[in-house]
Amino acid sequence: MVNLAILISGRGSNMKAILESVKRGEIYDVEHIIVISNNVDAPGLKIASEEFGIKTITISKDISKKAEFEIKLIKILENNKIYYNNGLICLAGFMQILSPGFVKLYENRIMNIHPSLLPSFKGLHAQKQAIDAGVKVSGCTVHFVNSVMDSGPIILQQCVPIYDNDTEASLSERILLKEHECYVKAIRLFIKRKIIIRDNKVFLNRR
Ligand code: GRF
Repeated sequence: MVNLAILISGRGSNMKAILESVKRGEIYDVEHIIVISNNVDAPGLKIASEEFGIKTITISKDISKKAEFEIKLIKILENNKIYYNNGLICLAGFMQILSPGFVKLYENRIMNIHPSLLPSFKGLHAQKQAIDAGVKVSGCTVHFVNSVMDSGPIILQQCVPIYDNDTEASLSERILLKEHECYVKAIRLFIKRKIIIRDNKVFLNRR
């Protein structure tokens, strides 16, 4: 059994896709789920609690120092039985970089979704970066989080075409649909223990 923490800062559509899959039984063997936000106004908080009855906790923004924020975060994770040996932390539009110390504590148990085919177009506005570079294909990446932003072992990727008339908004929308599929698949692989990590690379155990 895995205990899941989903960390959000805003809209929460990836979180919603994950919660829907749990509800439908496509993601199973999950015991506790908690949604944590660093933004009290994140629309995703309402979705989690009202549509899914999931416990939500906000770590207020005035805890400006990263160390204090993370001490509080660790306490919340532990109070909700999300430990290294049974936990999975899913960053889903969580707009804050976690420190190397925190990442080490939950090594290879923190996933993130990024709206580009990493290692291309790291950081913010990845969809605009792709359009500006003139690439014809982009997509999304689910990866484990390590101490370097958007650089941890890649679990799954999905491609989408980029059209001549795409805007940042239209491309983001097309990628987002793939994000929802990809994140759910990656979580299922993790829970089924299909993920093997070697040399900063993920290999999938197909058996
Ligand atoms: C997604 O595009 C995700 O890839 C990026 O932030 C966005 C969050 O969207 N990290 P949502 O809050 O899941 O709807």
